[in-house]
Amino acid sequence: MYLPWLSTIASILSMLPDRAAAESNLTVQEAAELALVYAYPLLAYKKTYLALSPRLPINNIGHARQLKMPADQSVVKPNVDTLYSTVMFDVSRQDLIVGIPNIPESQYALFSFHDLYGNNFAVVGKEDYGSTKRVRLSHTLANNTAVGASRYSAAPSETRLWSPTTVGHVLVRWLVDGDNLDSIHALQNATSSTTIPRPLESGERTLTSASTINWSASAPTKAEEALQLLCQLDEGDTPGKLANGLTVQETLAIAGFSDNATNSGVDMDAANRAATASATKAGEDALQNVNHGWSVLRPDIAGNFGEDYSLRMQIAFTGYLMLTSPSAVYPSWSDGTPSRPLEGQALHIGPDESYIYTFSRRPPLQGLGFWSLTAYNSEGFLIENPRKIYKIGDRSDIAFPSGKPVYGPDASAEDDGPFQILVQPADVAPPTNWMQNWLPGPSGGGSLSVLLRWYDAAQQLLDGKYEYPRVTKQGAIRAE
Ligand SMILES: *[C@@H]1O[C@H](CO)[C@@H](O)[C@H](O)[C@H]1NC(C)=O
Ligand SMILES: *[C@@H]1O[C@H](CO)[C@@H](O)[C@H](O)[C@H]1NC(C)=O
Ligand SMILES: *[C@@H]1O[C@H](CO)[C@@H](O)[C@H](O)[C@H]1NC(C)=O
Ligand SMILES: *[C@@H]1O[C@H](CO)[C@@H](O)[C@H](O)[C@H]1NC(C)=O
Ligand SMILES: *[C@@H]1O[C@H](CO)[C@@H](O)[C@H](O)[C@H]1NC(C)=O
Repeated sequence: MYLPWLSTIASILSMLPDRAAAESNLTVQEAAELALVYAYPLLAYKKTYLALSPRLPINNIGHARQLKMPADQSVVKPNVDTLYSTVMFDVSRQDLIVGIPNIPESQYALFSFHDLYGNNFAVVGKEDYGSTKRVRLSHTLANNTAVGASRYSAAPSETRLWSPTTVGHVLVRWLVDGDNLDSIHALQNATSSTTIPRPLESGERTLTSASTINWSASAPTKAEEALQLLCQLDEGDTPGKLANGLTVQETLAIAGFSDNATNSGVDMDAANRAATASATKAGEDALQNVNHGWSVLRPDIAGNFGEDYSLRMQIAFTGYLMLTSPSAVYPSWSDGTPSRPLEGQALHIGPDESYIYTFSRRPPLQGLGFWSLTAYNSEGFLIENPRKIYKIGDRSDIAFPSGKPVYGPDASAEDDGPFQILVQPADVAPPTNWMQNWLPGPSGGGSLSVLLRWYDAAQQLLDGKYEYPRVTKQGAIRAE
């Protein structure tokens, strides 16, 4: 017997509700609210699971081979920087092995690992996979020191990672730069996903996997749907403590949700309002101002939320599976109206109006980092335009006001300073000197959102030492 927690789980579970109720000062209603905040991200997992599972069996790897286009409406606010490879993992009964190919020095590739609730609990990047040939992922509860190194020692050039939940996602981002699609496809093909059964010690039971849940089942409201999913999970998928140090199961018991989310003593509408308000507030509180109206999510908590379940819930709504900082940073700009992390700023341009983003200089990045400014229509999809320009960033032909290139082989490192990006309706062409710096908005004007993304951001982008773009609205700049 090497996992003592396993043998005692059943007795603990049968005993805890009474003890918890006696020792806790939580009301039934408070317990329901806490459980709901914890549960909401399960709906984000459900959505991705239902979208992917018909084509992507658990623990297999699937690849997106092309960047998104306006006609593709499967994902809201898709990035047009990277291709993805994806594994929906389940490590309840086995370890997952991700095989990493030889990735050229110049190719940005990032392997990110996310639990059921979206927490980005590990990233494996260039500095790691230089010597790593594979990543071995196990459940945290299988990491028991009593067993000693023999059972779980890492093979040479193997990186060990531990998942807090039985299921989750591995995402691989491959940076698209010019015409490297073929080479990315070859790297995707050479990336593998396999499993190794986890041998059981005598007396050990396997973890109940979240993938045994019926993710298609529905409920009268989203709140009940989330809680009914949570009620089906046990220790292996409900890490962490809630208020007063209670476990999820103890909290559910106080709320009177024994094996489903039905308790007539709970006002579900009120619980839902309280949960939503606490998520919104957590999102606002976690934004820290940098400058010129821009803010970034607190780097210490962005992407891996610990016990800030309210922020975790908020991000599950707006940016499930976001990366930790500085792997990715998504600054929000606001003209004074409240902004939500990762939503981008909702803007509106008339048929003869534009926004200009005036950058102080090239954004400072680390290593193979990159950045982009991407425009979406009011539904969050890419905006149709004849030139098929959906984003502008470090891989674009943008120019300084002098006409010199900001990036590319002809750009000089010393030549740095202000440059501007023009967001203007797709049917209002600017003069030639603006053409390369033009990010098309909706034809005829309308609502849009513009999302700025930094990948492998340098510290100045987080602490505000970099002067962020000034954002101004004015009449359209028309060609004569
Ligand atoms: C409930 O108990 C915790 C400590 O166990 C305490 O911090 C908290 O203030 C108490 N709340 C109320 C409403 O009494
Ligand atoms: C796993 O166990 C090792 C020691 O055996 C420990 O150093 C490490 O922190 C543990 N990791 C997790 C995620 O529990
Ligand atoms: C990658 O695999 C796909 C599907 O198996 C195949 O069609 C494609 O030709 C491969 N591409 C490369 C560059 O190896
Ligand atoms: C899952 O739930 C859906 C909706 O309630 C139902 O139609 C389906 O038969 C269930 N699937 C399984 C495997 O139980
Ligand atoms: C939920 O559980 C309660 C008590 O455990 C039971 O009376 C009720 O029928 C259940 N409802 C559903 C929809 O399963």
